[in-house]
Amino acid sequence: MSDHARSNGIVRKLWPQEQAKFRDHLLRLDKTSRTMRFAHGVSDSFIEDYAAHMTDAGSTIFAYIEDGEVRAASELKKLGETWGREAEAALSVEVAFQEKGLGTELMGRVIRAARNRGVHLIYMSCLASNAKMQAIARKHEADLRFEMGEVIGEIVPQEPNYFSLLAEAVEDRMGFMMAVLDLQRRVVKAA
Ligand SMILES: CC(C)(COP(=O)(O)OP(=O)(O)OC[C@H]1O[C@@H](n2cnc3c(N)ncnc32)[C@H](O)[C@@H]1OP(=O)(O)O)[C@@H](O)C(=O)NCCC(=O)NCCS
Repeated sequence: MSDHARSNGIVRKLWPQEQAKFRDHLLRLDKTSRTMRFAHGVSDSFIEDYAAHMTDAGSTIFAYIEDGEVRAASELKKLGETWGREAEAALSVEVAFQEKGLGTELMGRVIRAARNRGVHLIYMSCLASNAKMQAIARKHEADLRFEMGEVIGEIVPQEPNYFSLLAEAVEDRMGFMMAVLDLQRRVVKAA
């Protein structure tokens, strides 16, 4: 993505209070992207329900936010009550924001988060026809396994180390500061 385009937005973790922004992003996905994201067509009410439970599932969600709106997101979900050796991931980028490197960057965040939580295997359920997702998986050196017309991406993150833990902590602090500045800017604009 060009510096100019990137300077318009930031990538950071979403907070539980930002459910509505996540929901609106998923609702804005066009029909094809929705089908690719959920591996089948889903209705608006399915998405509303899915987003409403985003934190119940213990998900960590990274988002690209521009002008206060989520335009792309990656999710890392626990498969059990606590973080175990395996987790599930998903990616979504709105059409106007695709092919600018956001999917690759958001996948990188998910892989590092998985690594920092001791996850050894990330499953991604996507259609075999999803060439872009396969390109992203290859860039992150993922192994891909085919099952019944779906690709199950098996991504094996490395062990956490001081730098991967520090990088996530520093980005969380930056994300918090940027969110506060964004809120201030919007309050001033509205006044
Ligand atoms: C799949 C998706 C996340 C990709 O996001 P993105 O921001 O467009 O991805 P990026 O720009 O980081 O990378 C796309 C890569 O695919 C490549 N690509 C694009 N079209 C391609 C095609 N037809 N065949 C092969 N590779 C292709 C691009 O060249 C790019 O690779 P490069 O950076 O090496 O050039 C996005 O298209 C999306 O949200 N789709 C709908 C939902 C979905 O499919 N989610 C995944 C299942 S959970």
